[in-house]
Amino acid sequence: MKKRYRFSGEYTDYYFNTSFANLETIVDSDKAIIVTDENVFRSHKKRLDNWNVVVLKPGEEFKVQSTVDDIIAQFIHFEADRSTFVIGMGGGVITDLAGYAASVYMRGVPFGFVPTSLLAMVDASIGGKNGIDVGVYKNLVGVIRQPRFLLYDPSLLQSLPEQEWINGFAEIIKHAAILDKAMFRELEKRSLEFYRKDPVALAKLITRNAAVKSKVVMNDQFEKGERRLLNFGHTLGHAIEQLYELSHGQAISIGMIEAAKLSEHFTGFAETRRLAALLDKYGLPVQMDYDRMEAFDVLRMDKKRNANEMRFILLNGIGEAIVKSIPLTTLSKLIKQLN
Ligand SMILES: NC(=O)c1ccc[n+]([C@@H]2O[C@H](COP(=O)([O-])OP(=O)(O)OC[C@H]3O[C@@H](n4cnc5c(N)ncnc54)[C@H](O)[C@@H]3O)[C@@H](O)[C@H]2O)c1
Repeated sequence: MKKRYRFSGEYTDYYFNTSFANLETIVDSDKAIIVTDENVFRSHKKRLDNWNVVVLKPGEEFKVQSTVDDIIAQFIHFEADRSTFVIGMGGGVITDLAGYAASVYMRGVPFGFVPTSLLAMVDASIGGKNGIDVGVYKNLVGVIRQPRFLLYDPSLLQSLPEQEWINGFAEIIKHAAILDKAMFRELEKRSLEFYRKDPVALAKLITRNAAVKSKVVMNDQFEKGERRLLNFGHTLGHAIEQLYELSHGQAISIGMIEAAKLSEHFTGFAETRRLAALLDKYGLPVQMDYDRMEAFDVLRMDKKRNANEMRFILLNGIGEAIVKSIPLTTLSKLIKQLN
């Protein structure tokens, strides 16, 4: 199923539930370079036989400028020019890196993505933010430029490790909590195992989540309003992620619970337990004894800070999020009281 989303001037074609084999009908393999990582390459080597491939080391620690330099050296080796098509095939680290390298090589060559992690399918590959980390600063350097296409082949997920499925569900539950009450109910009825075993339900869930994120980005590509809602759970989550050895999904899960508790204070939100039950059902942690003072110190440096206030995403109810500017002094007091 093909669907086109328009983002102020640019557009992206989404090929949902489409076999990877169809990639050669979208781009000419002689004029394309696939950028991937060793894990994805090892699991799907056969499918890549006819393609020029750049294989990178996997992991967030490689989402840095020196890897971009290596990718560009490979582009030169393949004699890539302005008509070369770059395809990022992998999780969010690869789509961020490939989109960024393609955006700066010769001042920009066209690119598309084949997301291979659940998180990349429902989140990272969508919206045009491509970039790298610098030191401790995640995604500090980058561009906003939309991929020409996204090809979704859910069968690629068969090789995805269990913990990465769980990480993907953290973002799916986030989408449901902020914007899609009906999806929240569906997730409550089903389970991770159910989706892993039912390709039809899984493909529908991915399409639905891609639509949730794409619509938000279409309305607000440059994050002046609605796109901020996607940061639900990420403000405190990122702070906790920096301080402790947790996966992104685990940190975001704790961040969502903490944001739900803050919502109780500001909006009268009364469904923290329901949110916790859903996160727990999908293998995500809902309780953590972290150093709240230290977390607040990290949080103060967050990009969403504005002078002495912090924009925080809160819930009015399930499926209904709001942005609230909270003075840092109030936030500090409240965060220290969370338990
Ligand atoms: N650009 C955006 O808007 C955006 C949004 C959200 C997240 N992100 C970024 O995405 C990254 C996280 O994405 P991620 O969780 O996909 O991380 P990732 O790319 O590191 O993938 C997670 C792990 O799964 C492996 N993997 C991926 N697909 C596989 C498959 N099909 N089979 C076997 N192994 C597979 C990878 O090799 C890696 O080890 C972060 O860098 C984050 O900043 C970007």
